[in-house]
Amino acid sequence: KNKLFTFDPGFMSTASCVSEITYIDGDEGILLHRGYPIADLAQNADYLEVAHLLLFGERPTQQEYKEFIQLVRKHTLVHEQISRFFHGFRRDSHPMAIMCGVSGALAAFYHDSLDINNIQHRELTAIRLLAKMPTLAAMCYKYSIGQPFMFPLNKLSYSGNFLHMMFATPCEPYEVNPVLERAMDRIFILHADHEQNASTSTVRTAASSGANPFACIAAGIASLWGPAHGGANEACINMLEEIGTVDRIPEYIARAKDKNDPFRLMGFGHRVYKNYDPRAKVMRKTCHEVLKELNIDNPLFDVAMELERIALSDPYFIEHKLYPNVDFYSGIILKAIGIPKSMFTVIFAMARTVGWIAHWKEMFKPGNMKIVRPRQLYTGHTERPFEPMDKD
Ligand code: SDX
Repeated sequence: KNKLFTFDPGFMSTASCVSEITYIDGDEGILLHRGYPIADLAQNADYLEVAHLLLFGERPTQQEYKEFIQLVRKHTLVHEQISRFFHGFRRDSHPMAIMCGVSGALAAFYHDSLDINNIQHRELTAIRLLAKMPTLAAMCYKYSIGQPFMFPLNKLSYSGNFLHMMFATPCEPYEVNPVLERAMDRIFILHADHEQNASTSTVRTAASSGANPFACIAAGIASLWGPAHGGANEACINMLEEIGTVDRIPEYIARAKDKNDPFRLMGFGHRVYKNYDPRAKVMRKTCHEVLKELNIDNPLFDVAMELERIALSDPYFIEHKLYPNVDFYSGIILKAIGIPKSMFTVIFAMARTVGWIAHWKEMFKPGNMKIVRPRQLYTGHTERPFEPMDKD
């Protein structure tokens, strides 16, 4: 290890868990996956290469990479009865509501890989979840617009296949634009894992009770849905649409500074990063590449770029270290690709699934599988006598 960490017992007793997967230094704006800087991974690897690194601890060799792709491709289809499961939802259901339901229901369909004490079952479940999430996510979208589900096309890349399942129809094939395919893949990489964020901690907590992996992933999806976490990308686009024009930005900047106003600038700030989110740097570059490639002239993007410019120069935001985060730019890219904002958090969940699975797998290392039982500071009543009520 290039930096020896000497944990003092005090730290160990307060740390919620010990992990080898991702390292974040919020003050320095550092994010490493198994020691590799996120910028290097986003620039030079693809999502399945990063998935292999997260799941197995090392980048794949060229042969391992080819085998891994083939293994994932074997599991991209979902059980045919799941298609009927979708039809129990209203067409106008939020896709995250469907994803919460369907991901948990996978336990009813893939009961041949539920024995968490069987390593073959664990490895099979990990691949099944990685392979099937794009299919399920695209099914949520197709169901919401009343179009037929599209089967995976395994000759395509992971990201290309997702775009195909989202936008192709039985009548018209979808021509995968390489710039959009690369942007999609980068969004998956940048959302793949992020240490002990709320949803990953939720997955680890569920796993600590011995719950099956599909139930753990459903719990992670539920936690990610919140606007303070994974729901921020959708909330950011809603905010940009509400602002509407560049001249209305100062009004919202003032609201963000007003302590009596609960309004917060969606896509800004972070629980850990008090420096620029290293993912946001890569996402910002990708955002400008996509807008240029698509030659998009949409006032929403003008508002976003002007909001970014003002926030990065405003003393309040600098003092409070409120930089644009990964969710600020991802929403803009996804909207430019043509993905509806209701699907943004579904895509975040899809990308984060590999991180959740990596942390779930890590729980099976010796000594890790202890039930999570957070301590509390009790501030309620001291003991008091119970006087029965006269009910007559
Ligand atoms: C993700 O944990 C992870 O790793 C999450 C994530 C991941 O990959 O899993 O990185 C993904 O969830 C990114 C964050 C997405 N959320 C949003 O963009 C929603 C908008 N952001 C805020 O809700 C907020 O910034 C949080 C929830 C992200 C962080 O909130 P904190 O921890 O309360 O922020 P803070 O303590 O650092 O706040 C410092 C100050 C506070 O003001 P004071 O009370 O000190 O005067 O800044 C203010 C906050 O009120 N502040 C904001 C703000 N975020 C913090 N003011 C206006 N707009 C904001 N967005």
